Amino acid sequence: MLAHMCTVCGFAGVLWLAVAGAVIAGTATPATLKEGKELFTENCQVCHQADAIGKPGVAPSLTNQELLSISSDKFLMATIRDGREDTSMMPFAHLGRKNIRAIVAYLRSHAMQPNRAEEVDAQPEARGDPRLGKQWYINICSTCHGTSGNGYESEGAGTAIGLPGFLNKVSDGFIRETIKKGRSNTRMLAFQGPSALANLSDQEINDIIVYIRQQGKK
Ligand code: HEC
Ligand code: HEC
Repeated sequence: MLAHMCTVCGFAGVLWLAVAGAVIAGTATPATLKEGKELFTENCQVCHQADAIGKPGVAPSLTNQELLSISSDKFLMATIRDGREDTSMMPFAHLGRKNIRAIVAYLRSHAMQPNRAEEVDAQPEARGDPRLGKQWYINICSTCHGTSGNGYESEGAGTAIGLPGFLNKVSDGFIRETIKKGRSNTRMLAFQGPSALANLSDQEINDIIVYIRQQGKK
């Protein structure tokens, strides 16, 4: 029995290394990580806090395990480069690609779960009924994300999930996984499973995504 468990552990370990190697931190040198940390402290910490743990109403956590596990390098780098229009997340293109990579490597060095971004981004697009999605959104999500999805602007604890700055950079899989699993140690709880705030079905989650996407185009 024990031997069997160890085999499983060993396999999981190898798998983790193999997957982690596919993202930036897997190849980052200690010097790059140090540089990334310094750049983070200088440019980002004022909002995202020490160790990037975030602060409700100010900035989200960037070292959150669920976020790191579903974020591609492309998503993180483009978000940092372009910022999110109409939020306080400003663009940092002036730092240059190399420095932004170093920051992403530093953030990734906090990851304890394998990166699933490729699989998540390859998930099918959401199909559903935006009218049903709207009801869920208004009843559950709007308290934190704002009636129009503009997040902190409406005094909510959640980010601006209804604005193009977010929507144009994420896949439906990214949104779906966030709704299903939530983000541990933040106010974003999981919305699927027995311990969830509300146990939404896959179809209900798709309805919500279709609604958010439709609103974001207005
Ligand atoms: C003035 C405050 C502020 C500063 C400085 C700032 N951010 Fe942000 N950041 C935010 C806010 C606010 C959001 C969420 C915006 C929204 O509502 O969508 C955000 C979102 C993000 C996201 C998306 C996270 C997610 O959960 O999807 C990333 C990545 C990010 N910031 C990285 C950085 C990095 C790296 C720096 C420094 C180079 C930085 N930010 C500096 C305020 C800031
Ligand atoms: C109790 C408050 C709360 C409720 C209710 C809530 N959220 Fe969130 N949500 C958050 C917070 C807070 C974050 C960002 C986590 C952080 O601060 O690090 C977030 C993040 C997200 C993100 C990722 C956004 C990004 O910038 O990366 C999505 C997508 C999301 N929520 C969708 C939803 C949907 C859909 C609902 C309704 C079914 C919902 N949330 C309900 C608080 C909430």
